[in-house]
Amino acid sequence: MTRPASPHPSPGVRIAGTGLAVPRKVLTNFDLEKMVDTSDEWIVQRTGIRERRIVTGGITTLDLCEEAARQALENAGMSPTDLDLTIVATITPEMCCPSTACRLVDRLGAVPCGAMDVSMACTGFVGAMNIAHNFIRSGAAKNVCVLGAETLSRITNWKDRTTCILFGDGAGAAVLCADDDPQRGVHYQALHSDAGKWGELYCPRTESDIPEHGAPFLGIYNTLIMNGREIYKFAVVRLQKCINEALAATGLSVDDLKVVVPHQSNARILESAREKLGLTAEKLYINIDRYGNTSAASVGICLHELMDAGKLQPGDWVMLVGLGGGLTWGTSLWKL
Ligand code: ACO
Repeated sequence: MTRPASPHPSPGVRIAGTGLAVPRKVLTNFDLEKMVDTSDEWIVQRTGIRERRIVTGGITTLDLCEEAARQALENAGMSPTDLDLTIVATITPEMCCPSTACRLVDRLGAVPCGAMDVSMACTGFVGAMNIAHNFIRSGAAKNVCVLGAETLSRITNWKDRTTCILFGDGAGAAVLCADDDPQRGVHYQALHSDAGKWGELYCPRTESDIPEHGAPFLGIYNTLIMNGREIYKFAVVRLQKCINEALAATGLSVDDLKVVVPHQSNARILESAREKLGLTAEKLYINIDRYGNTSAASVGICLHELMDAGKLQPGDWVMLVGLGGGLTWGTSLWKL
């Protein structure tokens, strides 16, 4: 990526187009009843999830990225060669080197577009949106493609009923462009971690990756291990804090917001935040019933659904919030 400093030091940033890719295969709670000791009733009551999408036939994170990115570019009226930078947020990359973003740029024919992956688990799409925005706002890039994409089914322990009922596969994409109106873009952003708690959610490769309290999991590698109750407590408290901190910093109220788009962790976590903050049902977007928890992809998928349904207009305030492994969290408050 080589771009001279912008003549306008702080251009605005607009979301020019979004895209979505989910596998065709639907895995319902009833399917899971046949795989582990669980029930549709338990899963719906405890998580709000009814079904999720799962890749089959060798479809990979890169395939989902390509489909979502092409759709976002088409909706933006742009071609791959217009892109200066592509950022893929994922914890299920194709391989550790090169990045999935490099593979995507190659597939799209977008060379010499810059390319990088970011690894922030469920915070990934929100973090990547902030990074992309900051590149454009600084004048270092004009057009950036952001993806949140996962094939979590590859790192799910299908014998563990406490995790396998939660996760799904998918990808969401957004193309961000410089805009003449400096008011458009992110007005508040945050990225944080409570990294001492990394052992609450991790995917070990070898014995040496298992934390002290993880002895029961010795011998189980390359699948997600999660302390569901701790993550639940963290997410309930942190989601509300993220929203309140963004409102306090900007002087906005919940009435000013068009919608909050949270990471889809668990419907109970989201409903609890909604009630405590006094948000109406329309102001907190939830689609976990159809896709489960797709980690870095969830906020991008939600954003596309809202855009595609014509529910977001220029000038609307939209707050993206991600929370997840690390433990990490991030906020991105946009004026569209
Ligand atoms: N079906 C039936 N029973 C189950 C299942 C299941 N799938 N899973 C657990 N149970 C049982 C437990 O064994 C336990 O039984 P016990 O009381 O006899 O011991 C009982 O149900 C209650 O278990 P809890 O763990 O207390 O259930 P809880 O209400 O906390 O729900 C859940 C578990 C859904 C995992 C919840 O804790 C949660 O959603 N946590 C947050 C997960 C999350 O957001 N992860 C995001 C990070 S993902 C990322 O970053 C990649």
